[in-house]
Amino acid sequence: MKIAVIGTGYVGLVSGVCFSDFGHDVVCVDKDSTKIETLKQGDVPIYEPGLDALMIKNVEAGRLSFTVDLSNAVEGAEAIFIAVGTPTRRGDGHADLTYVMAAAEEVAKLAKDYVVIVTKSTVPVGTNRQVKQVVRKANPDLDFDVASNPEFLREGAAIDDFMKPDRVVVGVQNDRAADVMAEIYRPLFLRDFPIVTTDLESAEMIKYAANAFLATKITFINEIAALCERTGADIKQVSKGMGLDGRIGNKFLHAGPGYGGSCFPKDTKALARIGQEHAVPMQITETVIKVNEETKRRMIDKIFDLCDGQLAGKTVAVFGVTFKPNTDDMRDAPSLTIVPALIGAGAKVRVTDPQGHHEGAALLPGVQWAEDAYKAAQNADLVVILTEWNEFRALDLKRLARRMTTPHMADLRNIYSAHDAKRAGFTAYDSIGRAAWSTEIGPDG
Ligand SMILES: NC(=O)c1ccc[n+]([C@@H]2O[C@H](COP(=O)([O-])OP(=O)(O)OC[C@H]3O[C@@H](n4cnc5c(N)ncnc54)[C@H](O)[C@@H]3O)[C@@H](O)[C@H]2O)c1
Repeated sequence: MKIAVIGTGYVGLVSGVCFSDFGHDVVCVDKDSTKIETLKQGDVPIYEPGLDALMIKNVEAGRLSFTVDLSNAVEGAEAIFIAVGTPTRRGDGHADLTYVMAAAEEVAKLAKDYVVIVTKSTVPVGTNRQVKQVVRKANPDLDFDVASNPEFLREGAAIDDFMKPDRVVVGVQNDRAADVMAEIYRPLFLRDFPIVTTDLESAEMIKYAANAFLATKITFINEIAALCERTGADIKQVSKGMGLDGRIGNKFLHAGPGYGGSCFPKDTKALARIGQEHAVPMQITETVIKVNEETKRRMIDKIFDLCDGQLAGKTVAVFGVTFKPNTDDMRDAPSLTIVPALIGAGAKVRVTDPQGHHEGAALLPGVQWAEDAYKAAQNADLVVILTEWNEFRALDLKRLARRMTTPHMADLRNIYSAHDAKRAGFTAYDSIGRAAWSTEIGPDG
């Protein structure tokens, strides 16, 4: 089957590569000629573990190619996936559908034979019907169907998520489109991965509901963590005790500095907006958005406390700036709120991240980049662990403390403990949802 994928970002590129690995003939298109040139040279423009090898394998097998020329990709394609960005629209929180509609119109003008136009981008309920209207208007004679196929992959584990999904959701209006989608996903179907076939609106809603639910779970545990700090409970023990309940589950129950990334912030805002438009306020989601912002600000307070309320003239070493480990994605990362606040308060900020430099350089002006954690911590007054890359999970804390001016640590991912920090020679340690410790206040606060 010939498939075209429009957009070679985190979702489009992974989808295109994986579809070609299923055995389909895939052409990936992007307007960004630099990206396409990079891909044609066999390089991957993003950091996603395992993607380069799988891409090269399928290019060499002659099943995968890249182009800026949409007409090339559309010709003979039985399905065209739209995987372009749907960022937050300025001002009102709505998902910006400009790129989706532009792609749909371009496809409509080029397509000649029956084709299924599939929206993979995360889009508000009703968008696929709008796509249908746009296509019909641009090419009234075209024989086509639309389908909604939201993507659930996680950056950092994208290939595994695509190849071994919890489920594939497909929204269609008729059997003809359902058959094309079934053919595309046949390799997964044969291996008994669940394919959930729905109407268009339900498929669109599933994606927002799932992301808002996960964002709620994270935010809930972050709020409980704040209460643990005041009451003497330990969030790690609380999360464990909660997560063992099969109805709750242990995933997304790790307290941290607030969620960020390319999806949760924009998708929660978009869901809140959809609710307002339909006069059904999404009150839980609206609260989640607010509490998440407060959580990030609470991290800044912790950092101030560890610096005796005075950041001017202090050197802060920040470990990890991407929104999570194993990605170079910086979109809405908590670091983008926290680091500028530290610089604004007069701190000198030194940053280290295994993959964040390329994206982060322009987004975090005024920081110094260090090669590794130990170089970042040289003569620092505070170390802040912001993203739990593996590199930061097994640090030699003694070595770290020895090179700092004031060995204080804000462990915003709960990797270590007050006990570890004390034993290594740190003199103050704070984390999330557990009692802070310093040589001045003692182990019991
Ligand atoms: N990133 C994730 O982890 C993730 C997970 C699930 C769903 N999604 C959703 O998938 C969609 C894409 O996200 P992403 O992170 O891959 O975005 P991205 O910004 O990384 O990539 C989008 C790409 O589309 C290209 N593009 C835009 N308009 C185009 C056009 N008309 N023709 C050709 N190319 C065009 C851009 O140049 C860019 O390369 C979004 O709706 C997002 O919400 C993302």
